[in-house]
Amino acid sequence: IPVDAFDLVIFGGTGDLAKRKILPGLYRRFWAGQMPAESRIIGAARADLDDAGFRKLVADAIDEFVSQDKRDEAMIAQFLERISYVSIDATGTGGWDQLKAMMRSGVVRAFYFSVAPALFGAIAERLSSNGIADSESRIVVEKPFGRDLASAQALNATLAAHFAERQIYRIDHYLGKETVQNLMAVRFANILFEPIWKAQYIDHVQITVAETVGVEGRGAYYDKSGAMRDMVQNHMMQLLCLIAMEPPYHFDPNAVRDEKLKVIRALDPVAPQDIVRGQYLAGGGQGGYIEHSENPASRTESYIAMKVHISNWRWAGTPFYLRTGKRMRARASEIAIVFKEPPHSIFDHASGWRENQLVIRLQPNEGMNLMVMIKEPGPGGMRLVQVPLDMSFADALGEEGADIPDAYERLIMDVIRGNQTLFMRGDEVEAAWAWADPIIEGWEGRGEKPQGYDPGSSGPDDALMLMHRDGRRWREIRE
Ligand code: BG6
Repeated sequence: IPVDAFDLVIFGGTGDLAKRKILPGLYRRFWAGQMPAESRIIGAARADLDDAGFRKLVADAIDEFVSQDKRDEAMIAQFLERISYVSIDATGTGGWDQLKAMMRSGVVRAFYFSVAPALFGAIAERLSSNGIADSESRIVVEKPFGRDLASAQALNATLAAHFAERQIYRIDHYLGKETVQNLMAVRFANILFEPIWKAQYIDHVQITVAETVGVEGRGAYYDKSGAMRDMVQNHMMQLLCLIAMEPPYHFDPNAVRDEKLKVIRALDPVAPQDIVRGQYLAGGGQGGYIEHSENPASRTESYIAMKVHISNWRWAGTPFYLRTGKRMRARASEIAIVFKEPPHSIFDHASGWRENQLVIRLQPNEGMNLMVMIKEPGPGGMRLVQVPLDMSFADALGEEGADIPDAYERLIMDVIRGNQTLFMRGDEVEAAWAWADPIIEGWEGRGEKPQGYDPGSSGPDDALMLMHRDGRRWREIRE
C-alpha cells in the first residue's frame, strides 16, 4: 500500500548511513510501489554538489547496496528524477533559504538527521526559525541518543524546544527488524504462549547478539562507547522490553511504549559479579581491539555479558542473560526463552529429557523454533528426544518470507505514515540511561579492565561461568 506523498530531507545525505541504508532503502520502497510518484528526496549536506552530482552518488549507492534483481535501469532513472540536493551549512546561514523554497505544501514533510548529535540543535532551530518545518512535520534522529542520562536529557530538551514529542522519531533500527516485530505478534496474537509467559514457567531468557565484524574504521566513536552504550542500552534493551512487557491495551504507539517504559523502570541495578566485559585480542592475521581503537590503554569493552533482573510480579526470579560482542565465532542474533521442567516427571531424566525452548532468530535466517520433547521412534522403550518445531519465515511464507525489507526501509515508511510505535519515546531513552549509568560508573570507578578473548570465540571464559554458576548454559553461537 503506497504511503502519502512526501518531501524527505536527509541532513548528512552524503554520509555513510545515507549511502548504505537510507537511500538504497528508499529506492527499494520505490521499486516495490510504496513510494508515490509525487514524492521527493532532498539531500542536504555541506559538500558543494549540484543535483546531478548527488544523483550520481545515489546511483552508486543503489549499485552497491541494492541486490541485482531489484536494479532496473528504467526504475532507477525514475527514482533519480525525484532526487535533488541543497548544499547547506548546518551551523550557519548558507542554503536555508534555498531549502525553504524547495518545500511544497500538501505533502508530508520529514527531516532525517543523519548527522552527529552535536548538530541536532542547530538544525532543529534553523528548521523552525526559517519556517521550513511546520507543526505537522516530522524529524527522524539517529543513535547515539546521548551517552548518559544527562546528555540524553539535554538532547531531548533541545529537540523539544522546536518540536512536539509526536513529531520526533528516535530510530532504534532493531525495532524495524522483522522478527523483532514478530515477537509482539507471537505473544499477543496467539493464546498459546501468554499463559506460560512468566516466572512460574520460564526458567530464564537468553538474548544474544553476536557479530563477526570488529570495530575497525569506527575506533574513534566506539572507544567512547563500548558494547554497553552501543548495543545494550538501546538495541538489547528494546528486545528485552518486547519480551518482558505486559500486553498493551491496543497496538497503539503510546500504549506499547508505556508498557516498555514500565519494564525499564522495573530493572534492578546490576551487581558487578553479574557483569563480564571483554575485549577482542589480535588473531587470525587481524589486529585486536587495541589496534583498532588507537588507544593502547583502552578499557572499552567490545563484548559484554550480564545477568539482569526485572523486579515485577511477572518476572520475579527469572533472570534475563544478555550478551553481545564483536569478532565472535559467528554472526548470530537470537532470543531463547528457556522453560522450566514439568512440575512432576513421570519419565526418568536419564531418558533424554531436555527443557522446552522457544528460540526466536533475528538474523540470519529469520524464524522461530520451538524445541519440544517427543518419544524417540522405535522399539527401544520410552526414550525421549528433543525435536524442533521449526518455522523459518522464508520456508513458511515462500517468496514473501524471503524478501524481508531492511529495518530502515520499514522505519522510514512508518515515519511517513506517522506511526511512532517502532520508535523510542524520550522518556524511554532516558529511563534506559538511568539504568545504564550506574552500571558504567561502577566499572569505571573500580578501574576494571575487560578480559581479552580470542577472535572467533564465544567471548571470555568468565561469561561461561556467569551461567555455569547458576547451573545453566549459553546456547551455542552459530549461524
Ligand atoms: C549499530 C551499532 O547500532 O548496530 C554497531 O552501532 C552494530 O556497532 C550494529 O554493528 C548492528 O546492527 P545489525 O543490524 O547488523 O545487527
